Amino acid sequence: MLEKLPQPVIFAHRGASAYAPENTLAAFRLAAKQGVEAIELDAKLTADGEVVVIHDMTVDRTTNGHGEVRRLRLEEIRRLDAGSFFSEAYRGEKVPLLREVFEELGQRLFINVELTNYNAPLDPLPVKVAQLVREYHLEERVLFSSFNPWNLLRIRRRLPECPVALLALEGRSGWLARSDLMHWVSPRIIHPYFADVTPEWIRHAHQRGRRIHVWTVNRAEDLETLFRWGVDGVFTDDPILAMQIRSRVKG
Ligand code: G3P
Ligand code: MG
Repeated sequence: MLEKLPQPVIFAHRGASAYAPENTLAAFRLAAKQGVEAIELDAKLTADGEVVVIHDMTVDRTTNGHGEVRRLRLEEIRRLDAGSFFSEAYRGEKVPLLREVFEELGQRLFINVELTNYNAPLDPLPVKVAQLVREYHLEERVLFSSFNPWNLLRIRRRLPECPVALLALEGRSGWLARSDLMHWVSPRIIHPYFADVTPEWIRHAHQRGRRIHVWTVNRAEDLETLFRWGVDGVFTDDPILAMQIRSRVKG
């Protein structure tokens, strides 16, 4: 399915997060309305084992609450306002459940689920996410990524048909390409920081049959350069800008 999307694939990073509060249904709906083909979101578990969509380990920056997501129960998280940190117009927006995103948008958007249990790497997040993918029949419409390779192995055991991508930390793309992880996990896709890639590096990956999706690109000149260099996908907060530049570069 990934290969059938417009190329290079544009992933609205945390939704259309330049225009609406990141990782909310409002940001995902807006991305769909803007006409982009894919979104990226950050999944983690609450204290009572529900899969929610939020980037940080704590709720502090993006809601009016305090505390670690993994120590709060769903009911406590759902009481929080996840919109007004961005703008008053979004007051009342909630931290979504992954289930809600799948139910409302799973058939309209391709979804990159980043498994972000970085402070609880052995928790059941991959198991719960895999169950939801099966429940909503989204096997053809999801891509999993993580900085933690163990997550990718765990999800692949449950969903062997779904693509997985290893995320590289800023400055670590060269190291990752040479590391044993490439043999151990053998991901078909790598997600490096955009400023770490070069045309040679992209060519090298393509020769090995790997796709390259770069995070997170918001400036027009960077988008244009990366499209010309042949990246296979970009994560961007501004899908409108990225779609304009893709049309221009592809002519
Ligand atoms: O998945 C691309 C990007 O989202 C990785 O970094 O911190 O924005 O989740 P972060
Ligand atoms: Mg992410």
